[in-house]
Amino acid sequence: MKAIRGFKDILPAESALWRHIESEAFRVFSTYGFSEIRLPILEKTELFSRSIGEGTDIVEKEMYSFKDRRGDGLTLRPEGTAPAVRAYIENKLHVKPVTKLYYTGPMFRYERPQKGRYRQFYQIGAEVLGDADPKVDAETIEMLIKYFRIIGIKDAVLNINSLGCSGCRPGYKLELLRFLGARMDSLCENCQRRVEENPLRALDCKSQGCVEATEDAPSMVDQLCRPCFEHFEGVTGFLMQLDVNYVLNSRMVRGLDYYTRTTFEITGPNLGAQNTIAAGGRYDKLVSELGGPDTPCFGFAIGMERLSIVLSSTGGFGASLSSPIFFFVSMGKPTRKKAMALVAEMRDGGFRVETAYIEGSPKKAMKRADKLGAVYTIILGEDELSKGVVSVKEMATADQSFVPYGELILWLNATLTGMG
Ligand code: HAM
Repeated sequence: MKAIRGFKDILPAESALWRHIESEAFRVFSTYGFSEIRLPILEKTELFSRSIGEGTDIVEKEMYSFKDRRGDGLTLRPEGTAPAVRAYIENKLHVKPVTKLYYTGPMFRYERPQKGRYRQFYQIGAEVLGDADPKVDAETIEMLIKYFRIIGIKDAVLNINSLGCSGCRPGYKLELLRFLGARMDSLCENCQRRVEENPLRALDCKSQGCVEATEDAPSMVDQLCRPCFEHFEGVTGFLMQLDVNYVLNSRMVRGLDYYTRTTFEITGPNLGAQNTIAAGGRYDKLVSELGGPDTPCFGFAIGMERLSIVLSSTGGFGASLSSPIFFFVSMGKPTRKKAMALVAEMRDGGFRVETAYIEGSPKKAMKRADKLGAVYTIILGEDELSKGVVSVKEMATADQSFVPYGELILWLNATLTGMG
C-alpha cells in the first residue's frame, strides 16, 4: 500500500530539521509579540469560497470538499488565514486593539504534484489583526527575512506589489480588461473564460501565451489612489530603513482574492518552478466581509516542504541536528542492574542511548552499534564492574578510555563539547 499521490511521510531524518524550523519560527515570532493559535483542519466550505474567492483556482478546482453525515459542506483547509479570521471573530479577539497570531499545520490543495508542490503541505503562518499602519507590513516582512537568515536561508528574494483597494482597483481592472481585450486570442482558454470576472489572473498565469500577451500590461502601482499610494510609499520607506532589500513586481497578483494593498512573495534557491518559500499581504476587508468589525490585517505563510528542500540542499542540516547516538553494551547478567542505572542517568542528562544486554561475545552488538551510526560504544563487562568503571570506545578511531561511573556524565559532556 502506498501513500496517496501528493501526500508524503516526513521521516525521522527530515523531521529533526522540521522541528528546528518550527521552533526557531516560534522563538523569533514571539519576540515580535506573536502568540500561537491552534486551528481546526476542517471548516465549512463556505468560509473558503467567501474569503479566497469563487473564481480562484483554489476554490474552483483544488479544495478537498465533501458532505458530512448531516449533509453539511465541509472542506479540508487549503490555507490558514480564513480559519484564523473565523476564530478571531468567533472568539471576539477583536476586543484587544491588535492581535498577533501564528499557526502551523497541514493544508490541503488538489494541485498537480511536483518538486515543492504537494496535495498535503505544511505552512507556518502569522497574522496581525487590527493595524493598518504601513510599519506593520514592513516590520512583519523584516521579521520573516530575519527568521530566514537565522535558519540559514541565503539568497531569498523579496518581491512586493500593491493591489490597491476597492476605490482604485476597479478602475485598474477596467484598464487591464481593455488591454487584454485587444489580445484575447493570445490568452489561454482558462484566462479567456475568467478574464471578465477577474482580469488580474491573466498576470499570474504561467502559460506562454498569457506571459507574452501581458508583457506590457498596465501596472496597478501606477493607478493607486492617493491613500493607497501613500501606504505603499510608507511600506517601502520602512523596508529601506530596516535594511530590507526588495524588488517591485507589478505582475504579482497572488492567487487569493482577499488581498488589498501590499502583497509580497519571497523566493528561495534550488527549488525549480515552485520557488516561493513564503507569501502574504494585507487583507483589510476580510474580517468585515466575514461578519466581524472593520479590521485591517496583514499576514503571511511559509511553505515548510520548500524551506526543508532549500536547507537540505544548501546546509546538510539534518545530520548535525540529530544528537549523536551512544550505544551501551551490558555484558553478562551481573552487570545489568548497574548498566540500567547508568543508562537512565545518561538519558536524564539528555544523551541519546541505545542499549544491548548480552551474554556472550560483544561482536554482534558492536556491529549493530556501527550500523546505527553510534559515535561511542560504552561497555560494562564483569571486569569493569569489579573496578567501578565503564569502557568508552570512540567508534571512528577505536580509541578506548576507562571512566569511573560517577564521572561518566561529566566526561561525556566534556568530550562532546570538544567535538564542537
Ligand atoms: P499561498 O501563497 O497560497 O498563501 O501559500 C503560502 C505558501 O505556502 C507558498 O508560498 C508556498 O511556500 C506554500 N504552498 C502553497 N501551496 C503549496 C503546495 N501545494 N505545496 C507545497 N507548498 C505550498 C496563503 O496560503 C495565504 N494564507 C498566506 C497569507 C497569510 N496571506 C495573508 N496571511
